[in-house]
Amino acid sequence: MAMHEVYGVMGVAGSGKTTIGKLLAEKMGCLFVEGDDFHSAANKAKMASGKALTDVDREAWLTDINAALVAAAPQQPVVLACSALKEKYRTILSQGLGTVRWICLVGETGLLRQRLVNRKDHFMPPVLLDSQLAILEIPQQAWTIDMGATPESIVENILQHMNESKNEAMPPSALGIIGLGVMGKSLARNAAEKNIALSVYNRFVEQQEEQVAARWVAEDPLRKGVKPFEDLALFVQSLAAPRKIILMVNAGPATLELAEKLAPLLAQGDMVIDAGNSHYAQTEQLTKAWAAQGLHWLGVGISGGEKGAYSGPAVFAGGEKKVFEQVRPLLETLAAKDFQGHPCCFWAGTQGAGHFAKMVHNGIEYAEMELLAEVYQLLKNVCARSTLRVATMLKEWQGGTVDSYLLDITIQILLHEENGEKTLDQILDRAEGKGTGTWALNAATDLGLPATLLAAAVQARQISAQAFAREKAQIAFDALDKVPLVLTTAALLKGYALARMVNHQQGFDLLTAQAKRNQASIDLAALAASWTNGCIIRSRLAQDLATMGAAADQFLWQPHFETARQEGFLALRQIVVAAVGAGIALPAFHAAYLYLQSLATKDSPMNLVQAQRDFFGAHGYQRKDNPQGPSVHTQWEPI
Ligand code: 6PG
Repeated sequence: MAMHEVYGVMGVAGSGKTTIGKLLAEKMGCLFVEGDDFHSAANKAKMASGKALTDVDREAWLTDINAALVAAAPQQPVVLACSALKEKYRTILSQGLGTVRWICLVGETGLLRQRLVNRKDHFMPPVLLDSQLAILEIPQQAWTIDMGATPESIVENILQHMNESKNEAMPPSALGIIGLGVMGKSLARNAAEKNIALSVYNRFVEQQEEQVAARWVAEDPLRKGVKPFEDLALFVQSLAAPRKIILMVNAGPATLELAEKLAPLLAQGDMVIDAGNSHYAQTEQLTKAWAAQGLHWLGVGISGGEKGAYSGPAVFAGGEKKVFEQVRPLLETLAAKDFQGHPCCFWAGTQGAGHFAKMVHNGIEYAEMELLAEVYQLLKNVCARSTLRVATMLKEWQGGTVDSYLLDITIQILLHEENGEKTLDQILDRAEGKGTGTWALNAATDLGLPATLLAAAVQARQISAQAFAREKAQIAFDALDKVPLVLTTAALLKGYALARMVNHQQGFDLLTAQAKRNQASIDLAALAASWTNGCIIRSRLAQDLATMGAAADQFLWQPHFETARQEGFLALRQIVVAAVGAGIALPAFHAAYLYLQSLATKDSPMNLVQAQRDFFGAHGYQRKDNPQGPSVHTQWEPI
């Protein structure tokens, strides 16, 4: 059975073993074992009478402590406080444990004696100090530490020794991970369990983030080989050249700050992978600035949440292709496997393309979530508000064309209860967001593209936060006449399936337009393959798109989807009409319907908008009889 580390804090009476051992265990978040607790009553009485214990007296005591350590060490690291004065005592204590790391507290005899005199309520009288000093054998391999310092600095010193000793003994790491927040820890666990030689770094923030990396490593014997750091320079030095570092810190200022601290510590050719949800424009700037110094900054989106980061996320990489090729094996090892067993690891293009792809993924995620929320809203009415029945109906969709991870978790959420109540019913209906949805919408607007479902999803969250206006509107409108909702779940399913397709197509259009702007191209079928597992928007639809090759670009209009398109459109119309009559707001369903209906409108009124523009601003317009011709202007009124 794998054993955790055992640390023995040893020394004569008065050296402070108990205080230091307890504090050390507390810092490491592990078990503390007090050796004195194992003494028999006879041993204690003997010592209290001023007589030193013999080796024979000590034998059973040492054996009992050893048994306690052997029982505890498979579960967690252990700190033992024990005098452990002779080598042969330590041999008994260590049996069956592998190596016990001894930390010997030493100091002036005067100070030891003083402490013993001041010590109240302890069976060991000061008179026994000399006999203990006489037999003390300091182990050659022990970390010998001055007991005179403050307990905090002694423990700090010990923790430092722990890091150094581990790190020195090991070859350089293949990968470094910076930031052990929720996502960082999951990704580091993923790497450690795949036997990637790993260094981890977490910053030191007094009283808040202390020894985070060391404690994380100590938590699990499987992380025994991982090197923990709190010193950025030492962390960098622990990595094999060219260095490969994954940043798992918050996007924005925290990422920029680390970029600044890291650059001077790195050498030409080193690679930093920013795996946060950074804005693609920031990634573009950093990539350029680092390239000018001979360093590589790679913007890589990682999707899958806490669980995905551990079990295998989807990875959307950006940066120079030849630099990506150097980190590809590592990223592929960490990534989930797609529907065909290939790694969910997609190179989206140079510079900010990886973060752009992740941002679009999140934009699609926003609308996917919104559509499911609206389905729930509709079904609650169809099902007379029984959450259980809504879940049962949604379960029927699982395994079919609309199968997805988000559908699965929605059903789980609907069924979840706490203290006999539906958890969902306890959650305030005010949705938040960290910004990637808004960024995606801004990017679409900037590229002149409609991302109507995304806009509906972003704005639905924004509207949900308008407490004052919501209250007023509910008073004003809620009681007004409504038409009972008449809708079949078959129609809802068809409309939902098409709305999802429109959402994905709008996302694809955004990716195509951005690639075109960068005079590049993007293989959308390959991207869809990486969306078949690991990421939040993984779904059966992604699988269908992954098999379409170049036709994926405009998949919505392919013959393959003709039935889904025709039936779905009529269903969307029914849904929207029924919901409007029943007084139910379905922004994403409306957005999908209106988008398709607008596209389907042959003689749209945009000719009037053009005329208005030309009327007041002489902006010009194109004529039907010469659509590619020059812009013409009409003098609409005398000046
Ligand atoms: C993912 C998620 C992840 C996160 C979003 C949530 O792919 O793993 O998209 O990145 O859940 O940032 O975004 P909001 O907080 O804006 O909803």
